[in-house]
Amino acid sequence: MKALTITLALMGILAGGCTAEAGIGVTEEPIKEEPSGEEDKNESDMPHPFNFETKTVKLNSGWEMPIIGIGTYYLSTSQAEESVYNALKVGMRLIDTADIYGNEVGVGRGIARAMKDFGIKREEIFVTSKLWTSSFANADAEVDERLERLGLDYVDLLLLHHTAANDEHAYQAMERGVKAGKIHSIGLSNFYEEDVDRMMKIATIKPAVLQNETHPYRQGKDVKAHIAPLGTILEAWFPLGGRGTGIRTLNNLDVIKDIAKAHGKSTYQVLLRWHLQSGVIVIPGSTNAKHIAEDYDIFDFALTDEEMARIDALERNQRFASY
Ligand SMILES: NC(=O)c1ccc[n+]([C@@H]2O[C@H](COP(=O)([O-])OP(=O)(O)OC[C@H]3O[C@@H](n4cnc5c(N)ncnc54)[C@H](OP(=O)(O)O)[C@@H]3O)[C@@H](O)[C@H]2O)c1
Repeated sequence: MKALTITLALMGILAGGCTAEAGIGVTEEPIKEEPSGEEDKNESDMPHPFNFETKTVKLNSGWEMPIIGIGTYYLSTSQAEESVYNALKVGMRLIDTADIYGNEVGVGRGIARAMKDFGIKREEIFVTSKLWTSSFANADAEVDERLERLGLDYVDLLLLHHTAANDEHAYQAMERGVKAGKIHSIGLSNFYEEDVDRMMKIATIKPAVLQNETHPYRQGKDVKAHIAPLGTILEAWFPLGGRGTGIRTLNNLDVIKDIAKAHGKSTYQVLLRWHLQSGVIVIPGSTNAKHIAEDYDIFDFALTDEEMARIDALERNQRFASY
């Protein structure tokens, strides 16, 4: 873990332009590269390191995924459109939505507007959506519904939102979606060790991503270690603590404030940087264009091992979500 932290910190420093030694493992891969199907056969079983130059990670599916993007939980259709547009404007290329958020139409509109206004190509954007539990029994049709609402030919990543009745059937429906070219990568959300193992008994495609509540008070190290042999990457929801108590608590911690002051950054930026250097993808939610730009401006500094350890020490297995 320490070695990974050091590597990531070095990569971060490189990305910030502080040193230019070659050979530290930074590659220059394109944002998206159609997997040939051959390249990953022997190397898919461990997560790949985050590339702080391209701001992406290669998934076990062979696709590249941005390591930071915009979350849209709680956003109305029009707010989602604006936030997605503003996120794409500042350079974010990852977008997270879900059936249950009821805003996929807005997300699709934001993408279409940004592609037109900023000349961004569809293949440069990575869109995640999720199947809600009540549609698991009807999952094949629900995959098509996601594309319809988003106005897209494919989604980059589709997740099962929670464990529930018929989740195995829904996972297999997502696998059919991959084979049909409607989905590039598939994964899980709000799953823990036992349920991941249960899904692996029926899965023919390993989950590329596991999206769980993750922040300094609940770091998910056990589940992260559990999924690592599958090559599955952990993605944080509530990376800043979530709206309300969580965000206030984490951003008022002296440790976080001290580290932020030392780097001339905000506490929000320190939290997001800590996730990335821990090898966890982040999707901070925001309706504020300034906040979105700030959240993305975290590639010109790196936390030291000592700072990472101080934040790691905050672990208390405390959730902020009530569900
Ligand atoms: N799979 C699941 O079950 C699940 C559950 C929850 C969330 N999610 C996903 O994860 C994403 C992230 O979670 P979240 O949005 O609930 O919580 P979050 O990202 O931890 O926090 C969102 C809050 O942070 C504020 N914020 C963001 N950047 C800020 C900045 N630079 N300065 C000050 N405040 C800032 C936002 O306020 P402003 O709007 O004022 O910027 C908002 O109140 C969601 O949007 C959603 O896509 C998934």
